[in-house]
Amino acid sequence: MSSIDEIKARIDIVDLVSETVELRRSGKNYTGFCPFHENTRTPAFVVFPDTGTWRCFGQCNEGGDIFKFVMKKEGWDFSEALHYLAERAGVQLKPVTPEDEARQEEHEHLRQLLEDAVTFYRHNLFHTSQGAVALEYLQTKRNLKPETIERFGLGYAPDGWETTMQYFLNKGYSVDDLVMAGMVTQRDDGRTYDRFRNRITIPIRDGQGRMCGFGARILVPDDIPKFLNSPQTVLFDKSSLLYGLHLARKAIRRQEEAVIVEGYLDVIAVHQAGFENVVSPMGTALSENHLQMLKSLARRVVLALDPDAAGDKATLRGLQVARQTLERSDDPVFDARGLVGFGARLQADIRVAVLPDGLDPDEIVARDPQEWGTLIQQARPVVVHVMETLTAGRDLNDPLVKTEIAERILPLIEDLPNPIERETYRQQLARLLDIKEDLLHIRKIAPPDRPRRFRRTTPPPPGEDTAPTPLQTIAMVRTAAQARTGFVLSVLLRRPEFLFHIDRKLQVYGLGRLSEDDFPSGAYQRLFLVLSESVNQDIIEPDVYFLDHIDDMLHEVADGLLKDEHNKGDDRHEGTQDETPDERLIEEVLRVILYMRREDFQRRVDYWTSKLQEAQNAGEGEDITPHLRHLVETVETRRKIDSALKGFQGQISTTLLSDTGRLLR
Ligand code: UTP
Ligand code: MN
Repeated sequence: MSSIDEIKARIDIVDLVSETVELRRSGKNYTGFCPFHENTRTPAFVVFPDTGTWRCFGQCNEGGDIFKFVMKKEGWDFSEALHYLAERAGVQLKPVTPEDEARQEEHEHLRQLLEDAVTFYRHNLFHTSQGAVALEYLQTKRNLKPETIERFGLGYAPDGWETTMQYFLNKGYSVDDLVMAGMVTQRDDGRTYDRFRNRITIPIRDGQGRMCGFGARILVPDDIPKFLNSPQTVLFDKSSLLYGLHLARKAIRRQEEAVIVEGYLDVIAVHQAGFENVVSPMGTALSENHLQMLKSLARRVVLALDPDAAGDKATLRGLQVARQTLERSDDPVFDARGLVGFGARLQADIRVAVLPDGLDPDEIVARDPQEWGTLIQQARPVVVHVMETLTAGRDLNDPLVKTEIAERILPLIEDLPNPIERETYRQQLARLLDIKEDLLHIRKIAPPDRPRRFRRTTPPPPGEDTAPTPLQTIAMVRTAAQARTGFVLSVLLRRPEFLFHIDRKLQVYGLGRLSEDDFPSGAYQRLFLVLSESVNQDIIEPDVYFLDHIDDMLHEVADGLLKDEHNKGDDRHEGTQDETPDERLIEEVLRVILYMRREDFQRRVDYWTSKLQEAQNAGEGEDITPHLRHLVETVETRRKIDSALKGFQGQISTTLLSDTGRLLR
């Protein structure tokens, strides 16, 4: 038994959850009010002792095991949760492999070195004549109080090529240690020198407060770069660090809101002004990883953007400080659509606050701390922000401008899982552009047995109903994914028992069961979860359970799906004589699922391929094995999907097949 299984076996999930949630027995399960979202009306939080899992059927739509529960509750990562629960269960965590142990020791050693460096730089700031200049700058030019300087551990790196190095060599550290920790740079010819010289040092810690590296700001205005960060090291990985998180964590949880700014000194100044829920990436683009870290602490994330970044033609390449001096990052960058999609997937509320007058956050709090609070409070949802940015200064009487703007905003709106939200934004957009709202309505997409609509290049043939406008065509293509999953879901809503057949077939193909991950839209995910829970949990009256566990919004979504006659997906389909209509329908659903998974896994293969290439390009020292492993795994799954899809060739209606065929090539 693995340590994890042993911990699970020893901790009763009902006991654990009961410490936070008042649970009531309901059949063999327990229900209560979800601790992760505010709600006093419906006890949407269910604990399933049989499987050792929990799930919130309300707003959060999240679930998992005891690990996931404490992770979410405490805002911890997996290993923190593991250690906590292991101790609680009295399970001795298996000593990791000797290599792991060696690596951990090494990391500890480097952390200690960095910790000593904080002390060293701090000493230089407060007790040397060179440092006095830096201290003066921080106190008078940046208005930082001594407590703030202390709290953030600011320091001063002396101006010499070997001052810091000599100090630490004398203390018993090796040159290798210093290079590995990123404090000393080694040139190709082997010569070494202090990386940080005559700069203000800003310790960078991870979410738990452990040292990872430094950011260092110039004192002499002409020096470049303005900020020099630690290089990528075993401890310092910018894509998984947010500056200030360990100090902001508590406030983020308490206020249920995280604010992202772009600048170390902005974080520091805003904290000093009393707003402690603020963090910053480190001169890299905001990544999904960053948002995920925050999302586990609070549902709402506000991006405080300077007007340039925010206005960046509303592509909203959020927080990507595109300056030449900046080390470039190849992280996938969020654009507005990515943000909306992310928000929908994770049920996060992502907003944008635009800072006025070209001011940085530190300048705003310097002129009026309350102004900061107001600005953040007035942050608007991404879609609204994009609408306003795109229309600002444009000639809205020009039909071409109207079309262009609508084309850019509609996909964002269509990505929203909530129908009421969609409707509201559509109305807002129609008003803004002064056009009839009908024009912005997307026609329902045909299910895959009328697949010509899925092809990007060909609009539906004219004369069929009323031909869609170009706007509608664009939107149709973009919502194809939603239509496909809508089809799958609508069949399951009518015939929940199909799920067993579908899962069995997927298993025969060596593929995972249908899961919420197959559904991109948040509302569909929730519907699917409740549905599968009600059929999988042996619930006595699945229909009643289902209705009890969906809110009005989901009712509306479900009704919509059931009403849409395109989603019936039956008798238009020929099929072979010896198939029953049910079998045909199941096949059809399965085919759509496989088709969607094929696309998904192709994207994953592409992603891991590029990651692998990146790692290879980064040269020695980069461990490529994890990427390689992911790549091999995804390619293998893709292969299984392909062979499953091949089995359908006789039956697939022609156009979808050619589409699939193209994918397979
Ligand atoms: P800014 O240049 O806007 O700096 O860079 P700032 O934080 O407002 O600093 P002050 O107010 O001029 O002192 C914003 C952030 O981008 C990253 C740093 O994280 C910085 O805080 N950055 C910037 C770099 O990593 N390297 C650079 O050369 C510049
Ligand atoms: Mn600034």
